Amino acid sequence: MAEKSVNNLTLLGAGVLGGQIAWHSAFKGKSVVVYDLYEKGLEQCRKDQEGYARVYIDSLGADEKLIAATRGRLTFTSDLALAAAKADLVIEAVPEIPDVKTAVYKELAKHLPAHTLIATNSSTLLPSQFADDTGRPEKYCALHFANQIWHQNLAEIMAHPKTSLETLTIVTRFAIEIGMLPIPLQKEQNGYVINSLLVPLLNATISLLANGVSTPETIDRTYMINNRGCKAGPCGIIDVIGMTTAYNVSYYWGTEKQDEQLLLGARYIKENFLDKGKLGAQTGEGFYTYPHPRFAEPGFLDVPDISQAEVLARLALPG
Ligand SMILES: NC(=O)c1ccc[n+]([C@@H]2O[C@H](COP(=O)([O-])OP(=O)(O)OC[C@H]3O[C@@H](n4cnc5c(N)ncnc54)[C@H](O)[C@@H]3O)[C@@H](O)[C@H]2O)c1
Repeated sequence: MAEKSVNNLTLLGAGVLGGQIAWHSAFKGKSVVVYDLYEKGLEQCRKDQEGYARVYIDSLGADEKLIAATRGRLTFTSDLALAAAKADLVIEAVPEIPDVKTAVYKELAKHLPAHTLIATNSSTLLPSQFADDTGRPEKYCALHFANQIWHQNLAEIMAHPKTSLETLTIVTRFAIEIGMLPIPLQKEQNGYVINSLLVPLLNATISLLANGVSTPETIDRTYMINNRGCKAGPCGIIDVIGMTTAYNVSYYWGTEKQDEQLLLGARYIKENFLDKGKLGAQTGEGFYTYPHPRFAEPGFLDVPDISQAEVLARLALPG
């Protein structure tokens, strides 16, 4: 079994991350089934993958033949039984809402072949929270990818107390096969490494905005000058993550920890973005408009012309 590898991959959830993991794994030669409960999700995913094809040609040197082969390895379905039938590994990338994940695992358990492994791509929840729902805890762990996986080729691997070494070995081998740097976690931790570092930054950002202390462009300028050379600030990062996930994380942890700032942040995202259909970079608008966000324009970090002094001074007037 230690020599077994993953040939047939199934993604649950065709959203931002599910779509990227599916595309990238197919690009690396895996047969991939993408499952979503909603036809709308599958439709958006197909559309996003046209964009990924462009990125892989422009930035990764892929040619049309490779792109055609990638497309040929991908199938899409809203039938869970069909999606599960041949899977060696299922990666769950449904919304960051525990009840949704639990329901999906329970339903999935009815359809999976005995050998299939399951991994969660959850950003902030622990595998031990869902291990028993899968019906095969020893075959379950977390395999967490970062957004834009073709650039950020990290795969965080986190076990829960019942995960077997065999499962971790096969999952780690899969990560390497698709070009990821495996990041093993030595114990369970909400947020793994990436989000333990990133989520406090993003929460602080949303808090600055929701409390009316600063603006997206000001926050991003501050961060981008403080970290010269980085391509985006926290508001640009939130746009890439997507407003739905940003909201789900703020709302869930705000409720869980009775944290008023997080709940204020969740309300801010809902009222200013979700309710207005501004879901982030993927749908063309979040804090910025895409494909040409202001923070990527030349001059965004320049010292302003002296004529701007009064305009900026007004921003510093309380109230
Ligand atoms: N967005 C990020 O930057 C990012 C990064 C790493 C990990 N993640 C994690 O990946 C997971 C998915 O996040 P996302 O940003 O891709 O979310 P998303 O909102 O973009 O996509 C979720 C998808 O799941 C589908 N869905 C909803 N309920 C479902 C169900 N019951 N069964 C099947 N599909 C269902 C939705 O239609 C949607 O297509 C979350 O756990 C999140 O924490 C997200």
